[in-house]
This record gives sequence, C-alpha cells and structure tokens, in this order.
Amino acid sequence: MLKSGGAWLAAAGAFATGANAVVRGVNLGGWLVLEPWWVSRIARHNGMTPSIFNVSGTSYDSEWALCNGLGKQKCLSTLQNHWSTFYTRDDIKQIQAAGLNSIRIPLGYWAVDLLDFEPYVSGQYQYLSQAVQWAKEFDLTVMIDIHGAPGSQNGWEETGIVGGIEFPLNQSNTDRTLNVLKNLTEEFTKEMYGGAVTNIELMNEPIFELAKLQTFYTAGAEVVSVANSSGINTTFHDAFYNPPNWKNYDPLNMNSGSNGKYLTLDTHQFWAFPPLDTLSVPEILGRICAFGLELKQLDTGILPTIVGEWSLSTGHTANSTTDSGQDRDKRTWFRELFEAQNAAYTPNGPGQASIGWYFWSWKTEYDIDAWSYRKGVEQGYIPSNISDPSTYAYPITTDNTGCIDGSFKWQAPEIAQASSSATSSAGSKPTSTGTATSGSASAASTTASGAANVSPASGVSAALVIALAYLVCSL
Ligand SMILES: *[C@@H]1O[C@H](CO)[C@@H](O)[C@H](O)[C@H]1NC(C)=O
Ligand SMILES: *[C@@H]1O[C@H](CO)[C@@H](O)[C@H](O)[C@H]1NC(C)=O
Ligand SMILES: *[C@@H]1O[C@H](CO)[C@@H](O)[C@H](O)[C@H]1NC(C)=O
Ligand SMILES: *[C@@H]1O[C@H](CO)[C@@H](O)[C@H](O)[C@H]1NC(C)=O
Ligand SMILES: *[C@@H]1O[C@H](CO)[C@@H](O)[C@H](O)[C@H]1NC(C)=O
Ligand SMILES: *[C@@H]1O[C@H](CO)[C@@H](O)[C@H](O)[C@H]1NC(C)=O
Ligand SMILES: *[C@@H]1O[C@H](CO)[C@@H](O)[C@H](O)[C@H]1NC(C)=O
Repeated sequence: MLKSGGAWLAAAGAFATGANAVVRGVNLGGWLVLEPWWVSRIARHNGMTPSIFNVSGTSYDSEWALCNGLGKQKCLSTLQNHWSTFYTRDDIKQIQAAGLNSIRIPLGYWAVDLLDFEPYVSGQYQYLSQAVQWAKEFDLTVMIDIHGAPGSQNGWEETGIVGGIEFPLNQSNTDRTLNVLKNLTEEFTKEMYGGAVTNIELMNEPIFELAKLQTFYTAGAEVVSVANSSGINTTFHDAFYNPPNWKNYDPLNMNSGSNGKYLTLDTHQFWAFPPLDTLSVPEILGRICAFGLELKQLDTGILPTIVGEWSLSTGHTANSTTDSGQDRDKRTWFRELFEAQNAAYTPNGPGQASIGWYFWSWKTEYDIDAWSYRKGVEQGYIPSNISDPSTYAYPITTDNTGCIDGSFKWQAPEIAQASSSATSSAGSKPTSTGTATSGSASAASTTASGAANVSPASGVSAALVIALAYLVCSL
C-alpha cells in the first residue's frame, strides 16, 4: 500500500490539473477579513494580525468594532496598509515553492456591498483581484469564500462582528449575499483570470436553522452554477454536520435524491476546541484516520469534499508557551500530526469523495507555530515540498486505511530547520505491518462525534457547543 499509494499520489500530481487536481492548499487568513482571536491575550502575539488591534487602551473584538472605534478614515488607512503588505506576490511565490497548488481566500460581504450605517470600509476587492492574477501566474487555483455575511452567520469574530446570529433574521441579508455571489461569479469568469478560480463558497461556517440554510444554499447555487461551464464549482460548508450527512444533496433539485454536480462540500477539522480539546494523542490520531477513511471509501454517495480548514492546534499545545523553535518534542509531535492529517485528508486513489485540503493558515503576523504553514516548513515540522511524497517522514500503513503508521518513530532534528528534500527518502522507511496503532476498525466507528468540531476563531462558549450538539442531533 505504501508503494502503490505513494505512486498514485505522485501520479495524481502529474496527471490531474485545474479543477481535477488533488487540492493541497493554504488559507490566506486574516487578510481581507481581520481576526483578532483572544485579543485580551495580545501580549502573547496571538491571533492572525494582533498588532492591528493593539490600539492603546482598547481591545476591539472584531473588524466591525475596530472600524467603529477608529472611524472610517483612520480605519481605511490602517487597512489599506494591511491589505497591501500582509500578502504580496512574494507570498504567493513561496506558497508555490512549498509544493502547494491552491489558495483559499476569505472575503467579507462589505468588500462588495457596504451600507452607510456599517462602520466597515471597503477597498479589499482590488487586492482579491490581484491575488487571483498572481495565483494564475504561479499556477495555483483559488477558492473564494464568503467568510463574513451580513448580520453574521455564526456570531464569531471571523465574520467581522461578534454577537448574535442575525443573518437569518432579515431577507435583505440573503439578498445582499446573493448580490456578492453574483459579483464574484461574473468577475472571476472573466478571461483575464484564466480560470484560476475553481470554487466559490456560499458562506463559511453557518450555524442556524437547517431549513433556512438550505433555502439560502439553493438560492446561492442558482447564482454560482451559472459558472458551471467556466469550471467554477459551487462550494458549501457542511455547517458542522460532517460530510456523510450531506449525501444525496442537490441544492438545485432538492427532490432528486442524488448529488448535484459541480458541487463541492467544505468541512473543517479542528482538534483544539471544546469538547475535542480533551482528547488524548492516540484518540486524536485515531479520529483523524477514521475521518479520512470514510472519505476514501468508494461509492458512498458523499460529495466531493475538501477539508477547507485544519491546523496543528490541539488541546495538547493550544496554550503552550514554548515556541516550536526551542521545543523539539513539539516539533516532533507537529510533524506526526501534520502528516497524519495530510494522509487522511488527501485521496489515495481515484474516484474517492476526498479531493484535498486547505491548511489554516499560510502565516500569521507572528507565525504562531500551530497555525503557520510557512513556519512549519521553515522549522522542518511540515514537509518542504508537499507535492513530493519522498519528502514525507511517515510511512503509510499496509492495512489499506491510507493512514500514517503511528508505530513508526520519527524525531525532529535537535535544531529547528527545514529538512532538505528527500533526506527521509521513501527507501529508508520501513514497511509497517497491518497492526499499526492508528486506523483500527474501532476508530472508524467514532467519527460522528467529530461533528462538534468548531471554529478556530473564537473562544467558543459552552452554550455554542451545546447549540451545535443540538443542531447535529436534530439533523
Ligand atoms: C502592543 O503595543 C505595545 C505598546 O505599543 C507593545 O509594547 C506591544 O509589543 C504590542 N503588542 C503586539 C502584539 O504588537
Ligand atoms: C515539488 O515536487 C513536485 C513533484 O515531485 C515537483 O514537480 C515540483 O517541481 C517540486 N517543487 C519544488 C519547488 O521543488
Ligand atoms: C433588514 O436590513 C435592512 C438593511 O440593513 C434594514 O434596512 C431593515 O430595516 C432590516 N429589516 C428588519 C425587519 O430588521
Ligand atoms: C464586483 O465588485 C467590485 C467592488 O465593488 C467591483 O470593483 C467590480 O467591478 C465588480 N465586478 C462585477 C463583475 O460586477
Ligand atoms: C450547472 O450544473 C447543474 C448540474 O449539472 C445543472 O443542474 C445546472 O442547471 C447547471 N447550471 C447552468 C446555469 O448551466
Ligand atoms: C468540481 O466538481 C466536479 C464535478 O462534480 C468534481 O469532480 C471536482 O472534484 C470538483 N472540483 C473541485 C476543485 O471542487
Ligand atoms: C486555554 O486557555 C483558555 C484561557 O485560559 C482556556 O479557556 C482554555 O480552556 C485553554 N485551552 C486548553 C486546550 O487548555
């Protein structure tokens, strides 16, 4: 399995292009939508871009609050500076050099549709347009996702505003979001973008009544499906129900009893938030493997699925105060956790529901170790070329699960540094037996509980987790 799996992976990179390539991507988080994260702990350099929120004596909890506090003029100059510097052509170049082939760009509705009473400022769009052109230049595909919808679809800071879930309360919020989707669809089918945009995601991480969500998804799919023939897939978030719960879903024909085409499911897999932050290391690895296994089965009816957000944060290191650069054990664990997830979230043969992933995020302002892909490459706990399986450290088990062999022992070099490609070549990996520690059949039966995975972007309250659990149970 190691051999054939590796060969298939290598071949997949070679034969599949554009919308059919295995997606290995990163999010450009915290760029066109700000995310402070736990701003009260700013001293720890936490969050995507903490310094923007480090305004003397205040702790703004979102982009809305920041702009409200600064006023439009000051907010615009602050953000213009941020948009033009946080991501540049050089970042896109480095992303390609790491063997990645796609980027996911979170966007707030206010980049396109801003009302006078809203404190936000706009000006993001030219940077979005520019990023797509850079992606085209470096042969990367792009998923654009509406991260912030009017009224907020989940009440978390990642949507631009903290508080209530008001999106479903006012039809004008739907209308405005459809207007943004129409804009994105018309814009990114233009010839100048060369088909770089392969996915438009209707809305990130919604948490509200399923019937209302599906009504919105139908309306959104009608807008985006116009771009079918341009190679853009309508993409929708699983709303934390997990992929198997969306079998036989077609937003354009709810009674069809079969999956829509040009339709991609986005699911987020995080291990850092309650209740999953209490899992032991073997439990985390077991669940990762089981989740991947489900997406690797053939003919399950699960839609083409991307893990659109994941990271290296877990309950074990979520609040750690050591930096990976000084902590060899942490680098060792991160490498195993990274490779376990890479193996699980990547297809290992044709025809599987799994089509790839986007790590959250390429970088953060201070390159928090568990959340910065770039830092992982620099310090050697993420493979230097993700498109080249010979740069991976862990072998795949021989028991057909497509999971890493957790019994294999790898230790990070004493000094943090990028591993030069192929130092741990495939030839040096032992072939493991079928009794590998991860990926047992019993692990496979526990995936449903993964449904309570929640957003990275908030100290998620117990109430929310309960609300999520309720949603999951009532589906
Ligand atoms: C926040 O501002 C203070 C004072 O200007 C500075 O000392 C501190 O380093 C800043 N923190 C971050 C995360 O930028
Ligand atoms: C990464 O590996 C792939 C597959 O071997 C190869 O085609 C590509 O050129 C490599 N990228 C870099 C930047 O070395
Ligand atoms: C719905 O939202 C629009 C635009 O923000 C606003 O003008 C209108 O008053 C809202 N309607 C209700 C019923 O809240
Ligand atoms: C989309 O909106 C942006 C920002 O307002 C605008 O510059 C662009 O021309 C619009 N594109 C289309 C196709 O409407
Ligand atoms: C896009 O494809 C779907 C599925 O084949 C189809 O139902 C829909 O009508 C297509 N949309 C357009 C505008 O062609
Ligand atoms: C787009 O949709 C097609 C047809 O359903 C699917 O085969 C493909 O994997 C999807 N690609 C992406 C990148 O979403
Ligand atoms: C991290 O610290 C926060 C704040 O003290 C706490 O609420 C949270 O439970 C901690 N997380 C873990 C995984 O220990």
